[in-house]
Amino acid sequence: MVDDILRTPGAVRDAERWTAHNYHPLPVVISSAEGAWLTDVDGRRYLDCLAGYSALNFGHRHPQLIAAAHAQLDRLTLTSRAFIHDQFADFCRELAELCGKDLVLPMNTGAEAVETGIKVARKWGYQVKGVPSGQANIVVAEGNFHGRTTTIVSFSTDEDARADFGPYTPGFRVVPYGDLEALTAAIDENTVAVLLEPIQGEQGVVVPPEGYLPGVRQVCTERDVLFIADEIQSGLGRTGATFACDHEGVVPDMYLLGKALGGGIVPVSAVAANADVLGVLKPGQHGSTFGGNPLACAVAIEVVRLLATGEFQRRSAELGERLRAGLEGLVGKGLVGVRVRGLWAGLDIDPALMSGREACERLMERGVLAKDTHGSTIRLAPPLVITEDEIDLAVTALAEVLAA
Ligand SMILES: Cc1ncc(COP(=O)(O)O)c(C=O)c1O
Repeated sequence: MVDDILRTPGAVRDAERWTAHNYHPLPVVISSAEGAWLTDVDGRRYLDCLAGYSALNFGHRHPQLIAAAHAQLDRLTLTSRAFIHDQFADFCRELAELCGKDLVLPMNTGAEAVETGIKVARKWGYQVKGVPSGQANIVVAEGNFHGRTTTIVSFSTDEDARADFGPYTPGFRVVPYGDLEALTAAIDENTVAVLLEPIQGEQGVVVPPEGYLPGVRQVCTERDVLFIADEIQSGLGRTGATFACDHEGVVPDMYLLGKALGGGIVPVSAVAANADVLGVLKPGQHGSTFGGNPLACAVAIEVVRLLATGEFQRRSAELGERLRAGLEGLVGKGLVGVRVRGLWAGLDIDPALMSGREACERLMERGVLAKDTHGSTIRLAPPLVITEDEIDLAVTALAEVLAA
């Protein structure tokens, strides 16, 4: 096919013409998808190794999730929280049970779940811990990624995410990730929470040293501080367990969830915590028109049921070992570092060879879609429905790119 009969170049141009350039997407225009595979407007197929930043843990158009969405579309889509609908209690109860917590507060996007966690922690600090009004602080980590609101970027250490969006929200203390001593030193009597990703996804799948998360749990308990785990990207099966915290037997006070909770169909996020924490919110103090809507709940109930079987967590753990073996074989052959937890991998490409962006462009030419992050690092997060052969295909494509 010659370029002028391909639809992709024109569609890429149109997209660039009509939107703000807050993303730098690969020049591929997707029109349909199923399972782990995407098809573009010119009929080319790609293996999805990003899965919507883990929003598509169950693959594209998982039949059980699509069926739930269709059935719900035919009955009831939106009520607002002014009324109760018949999907709401089941969603909250089943998710609370999956998390081992008393209560769930549904929102829509990940950033909203983070904002909710921050608000709840502050109110808990004033009303339960007894922090003087306006003095609460929250300890966060360098290299964090928790979303894009003005408050959240206030404590980002990524200049692209933060610069020129001030004035910034005060009340956050940033410490090096993985350094328990620094975190402990930052806590004082006005600290209401420690907010962490148990694995830093956007930073390149950075796994903290063993013992760090249990150490954070212990210091939070000792100092009467809430441990908030942002499992928006790491949770719900991605790492080979329901939560990344599970790998070290850690139970945070608050789980922040999103992405995969919406089954790749609708944005669904949630905060799960016990009643002594989430119970501080009273009517009128927090909310969202779309949070916990019937369509979102119907889909998310099925997501929780898929996870309740443990099948996806097992798949992720088992297939993750195959991914690890394949990627570790490329260290010294173009890769200078690899970090893998379940079906989640951060790969550091030798910067002398190419940037992460170049690697992703070349992978795209070989029918594999992945996303670079921070210079020469690539993150792989395929849908958990990926097969062994498809993992091998992705690793082979990467080997070819690195060898070329
Ligand atoms: C750990 C983490 N928290 C929060 C967010 C924000 O989620 P959203 O883009 O849905 O607002 C993300 C998104 O990548 C994330 O990875």
